[in-house]
Amino acid sequence: MSAPTFPVQDAFSSSPDVSLAERASRRPVSGRRNFDLSPLLVFYEITKACDLVCLHCRACAQPAADPHELSTAESLAMIDQLAEFPEPPLLVITGGDPLKRADVFELIAHAVGQGLQTAITPSPTPLVTGDAIRRLKDAGIARMAVSIDGADAATHDVLRGVPGSFAQTQRIMADAEACGIPLQVNTTLTPASYGQLEQIAALLARHPVVLWSLFLIIPVGRATAAMRLTGEQYEAAFGRLWALSKQYPFAIKTTEGMHYRRFVLQRRQQERAQDEGMARQSARGGWAHGFPGVNDGRGVMFLSHAGLIHPSGFLPLVCGAFPFNHIVDVYQHSPIFRRLRDADALGGKCGVCEYRHLCGGSRARAYAVTGDPYAAEPDCVYVPKRCQVPL
Ligand SMILES: C[S@@+](CC[C@H](N)C(=O)[O-])C[C@H]1O[C@@H](n2cnc3c(N)ncnc32)[C@H](O)[C@@H]1O
Ligand code: SF4
Ligand code: SF4
Repeated sequence: MSAPTFPVQDAFSSSPDVSLAERASRRPVSGRRNFDLSPLLVFYEITKACDLVCLHCRACAQPAADPHELSTAESLAMIDQLAEFPEPPLLVITGGDPLKRADVFELIAHAVGQGLQTAITPSPTPLVTGDAIRRLKDAGIARMAVSIDGADAATHDVLRGVPGSFAQTQRIMADAEACGIPLQVNTTLTPASYGQLEQIAALLARHPVVLWSLFLIIPVGRATAAMRLTGEQYEAAFGRLWALSKQYPFAIKTTEGMHYRRFVLQRRQQERAQDEGMARQSARGGWAHGFPGVNDGRGVMFLSHAGLIHPSGFLPLVCGAFPFNHIVDVYQHSPIFRRLRDADALGGKCGVCEYRHLCGGSRARAYAVTGDPYAAEPDCVYVPKRCQVPL
């Protein structure tokens, strides 16, 4: 099976003009998909159980399953509701560690049977055997995402809390590769991994990785504010990622780092279309640097192990609960989801920023840091044109 594809158009522009930047930012993110009606990505945390003890875990995962976890029958019924969106979303089976549930293969096969492209994010533990990977492939998995949080075992294993995790990840990648499952790598950007981006990219290049997603810390769950970088460091990291995106064949995006899309648009404006590397990027499609406009609750929704409905896994506001509420109804009509999708209603500098429709800042980080999900992104250094004081 080939990697998931989405009808997402390129919302970037090469014009240096601010009004054009804003127009590019406002352009529909998809030729067909309307984020007011259908999300692009639905994350279903099938369990909170996990045998790792990562220092930054948003889920505060524990080895034992939560007694409130949905049963197999309930999970299947919830997946059925996802197929009712006008445009079927990509379903990401996540956790915790999804392989802590024996019925994971049944859930995936059911979702695929319902027409949902389905990906999985297993935790790198001995549960991800070669046989389990073959069963995931047979169930119809379209992509597997694994986490690499450093260029070496010393860096990675400290964050993951279990020695040997780095080696497990390498082994899982090789097994997935042997099975022909497209690979995504997720890397959490921390003070420890910040200096190693180039080495991690070189490591990824040894495997058939289709997408590298850099996660910017949200201080939620076990993660603390001290694990974040400064706004200036994120900006410097974006510059290095932009350079790496021209060097390597895999796409590079950020998760909960929506301002990387603003950075890419600015760089494209500066470099113009004649740059050879940029032409290569454009040929890859508009989501090589992240889906334009996608944000917590806007193109994204998260279903917890207990059926609670959130705008994302990093924004723990409860907007509904399966089976009491219909998933499609909550996504389309919940006041929180609706307001999160309105970039013009954002507070602080994000609400007046010319990049608000393309970026909008992490709503999860705004909530985690300030308690207000509509507040300005705390970790973006950009000063919108309307806030700049003329010299
Ligand atoms: C939610 S996890 C799910 C998959 C699997 N349990 C894992 O950790 O690889 C997906 C990604 O989110 C990252 N993550 C977890 N907690 C985070 C936090 N508080 N802030 C940013 N990223 C986080 C993980 O490092 C992982 O790369
Ligand atoms: S592997 Fe994922 S779910 Fe497990 S403890 Fe780490 S971050 Fe949490
Ligand atoms: S100010 Fe807000 S909307 Fe503008 S680029 Fe920064 S995070 Fe994005």
